[in-house]
Amino acid sequence: MLDIGCGTGRLEAALAGRARVWGVDAEPAMLDVARRNAPDATFKHGRAEQLPFKDGWFERAVMWLSAHLFDRQKAFAEARRVLGREGRLAVVTFDPSYFDAFWLNTLFPSMECADRARFSTAAELEGELRAAGFAYVELANLSQRGAHTRAEALERIRGRHISTFDLISQEEYEAGLARAEQELPECFEYRVEWLIAVADG
Ligand SMILES: C[S@@+](CC[C@H](N)C(=O)[O-])C[C@H]1O[C@@H](n2cnc3c(N)ncnc32)[C@H](O)[C@@H]1O
Repeated sequence: MLDIGCGTGRLEAALAGRARVWGVDAEPAMLDVARRNAPDATFKHGRAEQLPFKDGWFERAVMWLSAHLFDRQKAFAEARRVLGREGRLAVVTFDPSYFDAFWLNTLFPSMECADRARFSTAAELEGELRAAGFAYVELANLSQRGAHTRAEALERIRGRHISTFDLISQEEYEAGLARAEQELPECFEYRVEWLIAVADG
């Protein structure tokens, strides 16, 4: 299995002993952490748009919260190329409805627009996968509830834990952090709306 945009290797760690997994990522620092987290997996530096693997090398491929960062047309075509005939790609991403009530939206008002521009709707994702050569695409939605304590939420904001922080100005970031420090409740619930596409053929 190939994990494209593997980050810190959390999928590789979860699959240890159950599958032979390769991870590929464009950031060497991510790969350093991934190698520590999942010593049994194999990691390679590379870009989703130009995968450093032979044609038909993998049975399965996954893009977990990474497709929104790729040139999707190129990355999906590359995934199709490195998968064998019976190969299957799973794209796990946020459904745009997630941004209707994303807990950071009120603190950082321009985040919603920045995220909606990066994440495909279900129909767009299906079209992109078909255009890249996948004949069959199945879509599923999954709704997941979670909760953060105030301390966890502040730690995430201070660590700029999602790439959307790179798309807002420093002024907006500082103002939002100051509001979060004053206004966040001790504990709050949130919901993640996942969109999962499984493509093959
Ligand atoms: C939000 S993280 C998700 C990581 C991992 N899939 C997970 O869910 O824990 C996205 C990852 O994609 C990587 N990435 C961004 N653009 C990339 C590209 N063009 N090719 C390969 N990796 C890329 C980033 O370095 C980052 O590690």
